[in-house]
Amino acid sequence: MVRKAVIPAAGLGTRFLPATKAVPKEMLPIVDRPLLQYVVEEAVAAGITDILLVTRQGKELLEDHFDRAYELEARLQDKGKTSLLKSTRTLPGGVTLFSVRQGEPLGLGHAVLQARNFVGDEPFAVLLPDEVFLSERPCLGGLIETYRELGGPVVGVQEVPPEEVSRYGIVDGEEISPGLYRVRGLVEKPPVDAAPSRWAIIGRYIITPDIFPLLAGTRPGAGGEIQLTDGLAALASRRAVYAAVTEGRRFDAGNTLGFLEATLAFALARPDLRPGVLKIIEREIGALSEEAAPTSGERG
Ligand code: G1P
Repeated sequence: MVRKAVIPAAGLGTRFLPATKAVPKEMLPIVDRPLLQYVVEEAVAAGITDILLVTRQGKELLEDHFDRAYELEARLQDKGKTSLLKSTRTLPGGVTLFSVRQGEPLGLGHAVLQARNFVGDEPFAVLLPDEVFLSERPCLGGLIETYRELGGPVVGVQEVPPEEVSRYGIVDGEEISPGLYRVRGLVEKPPVDAAPSRWAIIGRYIITPDIFPLLAGTRPGAGGEIQLTDGLAALASRRAVYAAVTEGRRFDAGNTLGFLEATLAFALARPDLRPGVLKIIEREIGALSEEAAPTSGERG
């Protein structure tokens, strides 16, 4: 059973300044829900019951978002606004949210290391809240199934184009069945010509607790940070670690264009919004082609 999930959310969100000057990046909304809510929902849909947020000073809003809001609830109840009331219940019953601070921004591996006491002696999931998925079944659910079948750590991967390789952790693996690799090595943000493949780690992992002593001994790597990828590489030299190609459309909402793409795709996936969004797109395309069309004067 994989019951616990860790969500590292202590980043400064500098790619979204000034929006993230006072508001945590994880609270930026895709349509009408903050990024973090999609990730929590994905974890819960995959059977996770205990969620640890790794945060830092100034990120209290993340916990507030998943708390009950009694005054607001009472107001909505009085007015009979049941569906709005339901939408404020952001954490399903039976799910507990914990948090721990990452005192120093020393990297993703260091953030995950802060989960050591929370995790104890169980396998656990890690979900990076920058990435969101549109898929039939939750991305994490597929990885948990793979973990159950193989009994070893599993990282989710998807193929990325060559120009994006240097933005990700990249897996070197031997295919053991369609879409499933046994990991030979992992490298964080390699230059494309040195990358062993184009299989990028997509921010969803099932990890076993024997990673913690290895993370504790991991030295700063790419970008001068303690990298989770390096901890996993050390783990892969000691036991079988797998990489599973995940289903579904992935959006890297950690950069501006990816965020906009996710916003459009998630809006189009909503039956109540789709017709309106399509009209907006048509209008915008119309306006663009009017801009591009030469005026009669120019034609001269
Ligand atoms: C992190 C991981 C990287 C992974 C990526 C997925 O990088 O270190 O291995 O491929 O997330 O989004 P970051 O985006 O935090 O630089």
